Amino acid sequence: MFKVGIITASDKGYKNERIDESGKLISEIVQKKGYIVKKYIVLPDEENKISDELIHMSDELNLDLILTTGGTGFSKRDVTPEATLKAITKLAPGISEAMRYYSLNITKRAMLSRGISGIRNETLIVNLPGSPKAVKESLEYIIDTLDHGLEILLGKTSECARK
Ligand code: MTE
Repeated sequence: MFKVGIITASDKGYKNERIDESGKLISEIVQKKGYIVKKYIVLPDEENKISDELIHMSDELNLDLILTTGGTGFSKRDVTPEATLKAITKLAPGISEAMRYYSLNITKRAMLSRGISGIRNETLIVNLPGSPKAVKESLEYIIDTLDHGLEILLGKTSECARK
């Protein structure tokens, strides 16, 4: 099954001033799908630390999917999309569009997430917003379709069954 890395970008989480419920929730949701969580880490909102970890998880750990949470908003310290842009070579905008499209039915504030999705070699990287509520709403909406994308990315299928 797919190997997953989870990065929580949170200054407070990194300093142990806040319990990282969002990272744990991501772990629960992907494990329910049968994915294997190989690494989970909390990092401060620092662009280079986040991009270095994304590259390490992809190049050294060969993870199939990296899910980040947090740091996608408008505050000065929010830099997760910029760190992700440094690590990817291809954009996969439809995934982030789908999350915002669905989430806008729940809260107009979904438009305030700047999260992106993209590909580095054989690793798919998806930015999720920071709150546990936003993680649940966003990730549960995309997860079934990620299966098919990952299969194509890893060369396990080249067929899109037509329904
Ligand atoms: N998406 C969903 N589905 N549900 C939410 O409650 N919150 C929004 C948005 N996306 C939200 C959501 C809010 S309030 C913000 S500020 C942005 O995500 C960015 O969050 P972040 O800076 O924690 O990543």
